[in-house]
Parts: sequence; structure tokens; C-alpha cells
Amino acid sequence: MSLRIPQIRFDASDSLAALCKAGGDPLRLNVLRALASDSFGVLELAQIFAIGQSGMSHHLKVLTQAGLLATRREGNAIFYRRNLPQGDSLGGKLHAALLEEVDQLELTTEVQARIAAVHAQRSAASEDFFARMAGSFQARQDLLAGLPQYRDSVLALLDALNFEPTATALEVGPGDGSFLPELASRFRHVVALDNSAAMLELARARCEQAGLDNVELKLADALHDECPAADCVVLNMVLHHLAAPGEALKQLARLVKAGGSLLITELCSHNQSWAREACGDLWLGFEQDDLARWADAAGLTPGESLYIGLKNGFQIQARHFSRPAADDRLTPGNRNR
Ligand SMILES: C[S@@+](CC[C@H](N)C(=O)[O-])C[C@H]1O[C@@H](n2cnc3c(N)ncnc32)[C@H](O)[C@@H]1O
Repeated sequence: MSLRIPQIRFDASDSLAALCKAGGDPLRLNVLRALASDSFGVLELAQIFAIGQSGMSHHLKVLTQAGLLATRREGNAIFYRRNLPQGDSLGGKLHAALLEEVDQLELTTEVQARIAAVHAQRSAASEDFFARMAGSFQARQDLLAGLPQYRDSVLALLDALNFEPTATALEVGPGDGSFLPELASRFRHVVALDNSAAMLELARARCEQAGLDNVELKLADALHDECPAADCVVLNMVLHHLAAPGEALKQLARLVKAGGSLLITELCSHNQSWAREACGDLWLGFEQDDLARWADAAGLTPGESLYIGLKNGFQIQARHFSRPAADDRLTPGNRNR
């Protein structure tokens, strides 16, 4: 006599088991760690962890199916990033706890060096673009979103902040310097810092033409060179040229004096991959939530945001983040106060 085993369905526990399985492998835990504030393609992750592409694809599939990773298409490439835990849903607390523990892991020096190599490849492509394309900069910018389309919104955010007359500003990546006259008329001293000599020459010509005597131009890399802190740090259309925007935001936040502000103007996430070739973009815009999450990790507090839709289909986000005054610093423990 054959014994009929009843079919028991475990749908809910299946998804918990997938989460546990995904977390039950040292390589996958390290992949999660490497994606803490960055996103990488499968080839980049294979390079970083020195394993074959098909092996890495398998691990990424397991992590994605468990809901730990999400994918984002950037033109022809697919980038993997961490998913945020959904606190109230099944597995949400486990997911959050897993990421908290994973973030205590120290990546090996070899892995860190290979991540730096991937970032260097991305940065070199961007720097090469601005060295070659300074002559046609304005025309290329206008293909996406030129300053005239977002100037008023950034100024609305800036003017609402009521800086003291003694306040200072730092513009990272001023490009041809079109925004510098606005900063020069609002701040006592302005530093404009660009890592492209060709772009800085355009900015110098603009400052001379406008007779700006309180703007200091500096040839420097905002992420690797010594930079002065300021009451207001401005980044207009720069973040999508940086190799690791989440990490970059942490470094740039340190340039904001206590009680000061960071103003970021960026494209919202889009799928116009021609922008990589035509405008040297490393990233096809950003999700609003990503900017907010990176800013939070950098110890910044979100302020007002403005969104500008353009006729060519692009959307711009102008965001304000502030750095708490020295005696009101947020620490992980009191962040939710
Ligand atoms: C798309 S342009 C934006 C120019 C200008 N802010 C605007 O909105 O028209 C990006 C600028 O950022 C500069 N840049 C990129 N990475 C940089 C870095 N790590 N440090 C300083 N400047 C950087 C580029 O050289 C370029 O001038």
C-alpha cells in the first residue's frame, strides 16, 4: 500500500529560506558589502572578486531572487545595487539585520584595490571626455540640460537659505563657469574647483569677462585633493560624472561646514544611453531616493527639493541637504529622533 504524502505549501517560508540561503555564503556577503554605497555591473563584480563571469552571475541571481539586490539598466549595461529592507514585510527585519552585520565586514585589501581600479577606469573615461570636449561643452550640455533650464530653481533654493554676507561657497565642477557670477554676487568668497584644466580655462575666461574679483579658481580633484570647506557647496550636473557617487557624496559632505548646505542639481534617472557617448555621462541620472539615502549616510539632512521637467523628456532634480550644526550632529543612535 502506497502512502500518500500530503503536499504542504510553504510559500511564505520559501521566501525566508531564499533570504537565508542568499546570506549563507561568504562571497555573497562580501558582494553585499561591496554594494553598500555603490553599484556595479556583473563584469566589474567578477573583476573585483576575481572569479569568472558565470560564477558571479549565479551569485547575483541568488541575491536578486532573495530580494537582497535589485538591477538597474544603464543603457546596454545592467548594474546591481542593494535593495532597501522593507521593515514590515516578511523577512524585512532579517534583511535589515543582515545588512547591518554585513556592513561591519572589512573587505580585503585586494578587493578594495580592485574596487579602486574599477573606479579609476570610470574616472579616466570622464576626465578624458572633458579634456577632449571642452570646445563643444556648451552645445553638448544643452543636449541634456543646460544651466538656463535649472538656474532659477537652484537660485530659489539658494536664496531661501539666507546665508550671512560673510558666508563662503565652493562650486565643484563649475564647467565653463556660467554659475559663478550668481555665487560671486551672493557670497563673500567663492572657490571654483575643477579637475579639468581645459574646463577651468573656460571658467577663468568667464570670470575675467564678468570682472569677478572674489572667485578663486583651483585645478584640483574634489575627491582626491585637498579642498577648502565652505558654508555652501554646489554641484551642478557633476555627480553623474563621478565613478562612485555614493562614496563621493560622503567625501563632499565633509567640505560643508557645520550648519552649512550642499546643493545638488542632477538629472533624474533616465534611459537615454546616448548621453554616455555624447556628454561623457557615467550614470544615467539618479533616483531621488538614492540621493536621499547617500546624503543620509553622509550625515546630511534633507531640505527642500525642486523638480523641473524639460521639453526633451529629461527631468532635473535640484536638492538641498544641510549639515547639522556642530552641537546638533546626528549620530546613528539619535538619527531618528
Ligand atoms: C557636466 S560638467 C557640469 C558643469 C557645470 N556645473 C554646469 O552645470 O554646466 C561637469 C564638470 O565637473 C568636472 N569634474 C568631474 N569630476 C570632477 C572631480 N572629481 N573634481 C572636480 N571636478 C570634476 C568636469 O571637469 C566638468 O567641468
